[in-house]
Amino acid sequence: RNHKRHTTCRNDINMLNAPLLALFESLIPSDEEKLKQKQLLTLLENLVRKEWPNARLFLYGSCANSFGFPKSDVDVCLQMDLGDIEKSEVLLKLAKIFESDNLQNVQALTRARVPIVKLMDPVTGISCDICINNVLAVVNTKLLHDYARIDIRLRQLAFIVKHWAKSRGVNVTYQGTLSSYAYVLMCIHFLQQRRPSILPCLQGMQFTYYVTVEKVECSYFDQVEKLQNFGAQNRESVAQLVWGFFHYWAYCHDYANDVISVRTGSMISKRSKDWTRRVGNDRHLICIEDPFEVSHDLGRVVDKHSIRVLREEFERAAEIMQYDPNPCVTLFEPY
Ligand code: GTP
Ligand code: MG
Repeated sequence: RNHKRHTTCRNDINMLNAPLLALFESLIPSDEEKLKQKQLLTLLENLVRKEWPNARLFLYGSCANSFGFPKSDVDVCLQMDLGDIEKSEVLLKLAKIFESDNLQNVQALTRARVPIVKLMDPVTGISCDICINNVLAVVNTKLLHDYARIDIRLRQLAFIVKHWAKSRGVNVTYQGTLSSYAYVLMCIHFLQQRRPSILPCLQGMQFTYYVTVEKVECSYFDQVEKLQNFGAQNRESVAQLVWGFFHYWAYCHDYANDVISVRTGSMISKRSKDWTRRVGNDRHLICIEDPFEVSHDLGRVVDKHSIRVLREEFERAAEIMQYDPNPCVTLFEPY
């Protein structure tokens, strides 16, 4: 691959620290935004409980994992005992309930991989997806949220990476690029791997939190308030980390052999997971192990074409940070 040099002089990466931090600050949602999301959740909960008194609603995804942008959709999981009722039946019933309460754009997608009801609240303008009994997503949301509480640099890095991925069009799973969830796992893993490490491996520690969900045992150390100084030995700035992240995925990752694993806090081999060849639609061209559903590769959506797009974008980003005269603009230029 030819490494394009944009200018001959090399940037002082630390000069990018202030603008990147300012960008991070501009991307975090306000308390007002968070409040609106909570209000919508309460409204929905009241509606749902009229029909199913024992049902509970949980926020998951970016509105609850602390990696959400102000305009992110709200992901809600409805937890209830279905008994003999079909999920699709419940979704259609939900859609009816929401429609008669004047919620807008109500749509039941009963045949999707994860069946949901979509809606928009006209009062707050917030869009929302509601799924049923997707408890693993609620648990992995808690894991991400707990990691975010250990060292602020995780949120800083992940917001910038997500913003870059959205600007560059490489956060579109149906086009073969990665989900936001995958990018956050890549950031956590990257910070676990720094020396000295910035994040611990919570699933490798004595567990203080334990649930079994659909036969998957989920356990890890969740008393993260005790880990506030964990990363203090490492003084790297957010600019160094952003550059290091792109540089790693551009030039250092062994795509042919390695799987990144937040669960173990290290690299594991594709061979140990039998992810060395294409099985069905899973091509395993970039491998990101789900922390709880370990047979699940979040890179499964990536194909022969999109792996090239992704790797070129990582290279572009790394080069821009080093050589572009105006990296904080160029990096996020719409594709
Ligand atoms: P944005 O909406 O882009 O801001 O980010 P998000 O954090 O909401 O991410 P995304 O829409 O990719 O996913 C929402 C949530 O669904 C994630 O936080 C996970 O909890 C869960 N999720 C997404 N993809 C998967 C997946 O492939 N497997 C599992 N187990 N959970 C997933
Ligand atoms: Mg989302």
